Amino acid sequence: MKKSAAVVLEELREDHRNMSLMLNLLERESNRIYEGKEPDYELLGDVMHYMTVYPDAVHHPKEDRLYAELRAFRPDLSVGFERITMDHRHIAELSVKLRNEIAAINSGNPIKRNAVVADALRYVNTLRGHMQWEELDLFRRVDEMISEGHISFDSATFAHNHDPVFGPEVEQNFGRLLSSIRALSPAC
Ligand SMILES: [Fe+2]
Ligand SMILES: [Fe+2]
Repeated sequence: MKKSAAVVLEELREDHRNMSLMLNLLERESNRIYEGKEPDYELLGDVMHYMTVYPDAVHHPKEDRLYAELRAFRPDLSVGFERITMDHRHIAELSVKLRNEIAAINSGNPIKRNAVVADALRYVNTLRGHMQWEELDLFRRVDEMISEGHISFDSATFAHNHDPVFGPEVEQNFGRLLSSIRALSPAC
């Protein structure tokens, strides 16, 4: 199955916009914990659930494929991107750790709040830095690959799951999360 590389790139850029909104929400609630206020732990749990089922499971593997394509067709343009797959693995580990900590709090287990704040802010900063690197570098290299004639590639190995929050259908458990995102960013 062939897919337009430009369409894939636009999907990835849109995912980044959506992930940034999630990170804003995560940062806002983490700051509430830091300030000694009561955060919305249920919402934090929803954000981290989303991060593990969409960005980690669909978005990053798609980028790994895009990078493999770049390396296969334009090895000259892929220099410096060897660590991207490792970065994705590291980010997924941070996601699971944070998701589990928040789930533990929501189940009434004692977890040090400061540790959650530190892990949440580390996660926000790591993912923001990673996305910026991709947008300013990887995606531009792919733009170059496209403009030089490599306009489509095999998408058979992509995970084709729709985004459960911003996709055509909002999954039942994510309705509240989408409302919170819209309250923060009315344009969504
Ligand atoms: Fe990535
Ligand atoms: Fe990305």
